[in-house]
Amino acid sequence: MIKKAVIPAAGWGTRFLPITKAVPKEMLPIIDKPALSYIIEEAVDSGIEEILIIISSNKGAIQSYFKYNLELEQFLKEKNKLDDIKLIRQTHHGAKIFYTTQEEQLGLGHAVLQAEKFINGEPFAVLLGDDVYVSEDKPALKQLIDAFNEKKSSILGTMEVSDEDTKLYGICMPKEDSSKPIVELKGVVEKPKSNPPSNSAISGRYVLTPKIFELLKNQTRGAGNEIQLTDSILRLMDSEKVYSFDMIGKRYDIGSKIGYLEAIIDFGLKREELKDGLMHILKSKTK
Ligand code: G1P
Repeated sequence: MIKKAVIPAAGWGTRFLPITKAVPKEMLPIIDKPALSYIIEEAVDSGIEEILIIISSNKGAIQSYFKYNLELEQFLKEKNKLDDIKLIRQTHHGAKIFYTTQEEQLGLGHAVLQAEKFINGEPFAVLLGDDVYVSEDKPALKQLIDAFNEKKSSILGTMEVSDEDTKLYGICMPKEDSSKPIVELKGVVEKPKSNPPSNSAISGRYVLTPKIFELLKNQTRGAGNEIQLTDSILRLMDSEKVYSFDMIGKRYDIGSKIGYLEAIIDFGLKREELKDGLMHILKSKTK
């Protein structure tokens, strides 16, 4: 059973400067909730009970969001806004949230390594903050966990990307051509500059065996001069099978400005109290 998840959230968020100077990227709002909240909700709906968020020293806003705010609760109580009290108490969606600090931003692999003690030798999930999923039937992470339970080996959540986008992702090298949703991999390469091995891109969800920590400890720097999780996953293939699984759902790359805007519009159109007003604005702009 996969009960623990890691969310790396220690990066500088340089693609969203200058706002990320003061507001962590993970706290950018999609309407009235931070992006991180949607990711935690997905984790909880997938059976995750304990979540470790890897933060850096300037990410106090993340901790504030999950803490009780007694002054605000008192204020809402005096105004008899009891529904709002429920709303601000449920920011963790029922998960136990823990934090650890990544002292130096050396890359995603280095961030995940900070979770070793918390994970304590069990298989675990990783959710990246840039990727927000909306799935009709089953949350994206639950789909991946079910696939992990079938294969009992590390598995990477993937989606097909266009040829020109392969340089932005970790790209999978399938062992053989297959139309099955779960595919065994013979390689994976982080942000290939040329000759991508496929169009199957790692899309921000992983279920990994704890063996990954041993490899991360002596992982040399790779793409972007960073300690890459992808490079340790490649080495993991020497001792264990690693699979990819094409998740079903709509993915928003909220690390990009256009993906972030799309998420706001789509989430707005799904909100009963906003959809008519928003539709009206969109129609008048596109006339
Ligand atoms: C990270 C991973 C990459 C993955 C991507 C998904 O890259 O290193 O393998 O495909 O997330 O969003 P980043 O976007 O943080 O540079």
